[in-house]
Amino acid sequence: MLRRGKQPRFGGSRLAMLEEAMAAPSSHYRTQAELRQQIEAWKETDRSNFDADRYYDSWRAAGYTEHNRGSQETLARRALQLCSIHTGEPPVDHAKECLLAVDLGCGSGLSTAVACRVRADTLGTIGVDLSWEMLKSPEWEEVSSSLSPLSGERLRCDLSQPLPFRRGVFDLCYSVSAVHYLAQGSATRTAEQRISALTKSLRDVLCAGSRPCALQAYLTRDSNALQLFRDVAEKDGWALCDLAGSGLFELHWSTACVEVR
Ligand SMILES: C[S@@+](CC[C@H](N)C(=O)[O-])C[C@H]1O[C@@H](n2cnc3c(N)ncnc32)[C@H](O)[C@@H]1O
Repeated sequence: MLRRGKQPRFGGSRLAMLEEAMAAPSSHYRTQAELRQQIEAWKETDRSNFDADRYYDSWRAAGYTEHNRGSQETLARRALQLCSIHTGEPPVDHAKECLLAVDLGCGSGLSTAVACRVRADTLGTIGVDLSWEMLKSPEWEEVSSSLSPLSGERLRCDLSQPLPFRRGVFDLCYSVSAVHYLAQGSATRTAEQRISALTKSLRDVLCAGSRPCALQAYLTRDSNALQLFRDVAEKDGWALCDLAGSGLFELHWSTACVEVR
């Protein structure tokens, strides 16, 4: 199988066929380098036309849930800890304050299920995602059967548009493996506009004194993506702390920013 980011290597006979095809008068590409350049251009077009709803059809949504449970649960637990949520055994004397969280790009519910499990009595979580198939996944049945307030509540929305919630309703926000999709422009909007729609509206929907937001994303594949997120977030009044290459970052309201590692 070809791993992401690795160039394909052709065996002898396939290489010969490729060379022969490129030598044909009708071929648009004369060298492997030209062909690779075109492939990269196609990939770029694909990225800017990316539509999570179209991409995650029922087959992909089921495969995703089956193969990524362990990793996504670990990432979700870590993100919640960074939101100052205790994910171990509840302290004996912990106050029964109930908090409301939003899970951005909740997908099939793997990351939401963790929040429902760790603080079932005191943490309600609403998931948002663009993909119908992810939101219809059977995994949500387990989430819905949790004792957590609002368990299984989820709605379809595009993170690159203002969040459809009233002002000041959430105590915390976390996201696992989703917001990197905003760091690519679409056919009609730049990456800056898409990220800013989220960072602006996140401020509106969080209450005063909310916990830090923890967003885990894959921003290292594109060398500009993290800086772009940082710039846009700062313009919209956030301080972004990057956890040095881990793909996790926190957003703080305050302008003071502490590098965690
Ligand atoms: C890799 S999955 C992560 C799902 C879940 N957080 C987890 O940890 O299993 C990424 C999710 O982001 C969602 N997504 C991508 N772009 C989005 C957008 N613009 N608005 C809302 N959701 C989006 C996809 O539909 C997908 O469910």
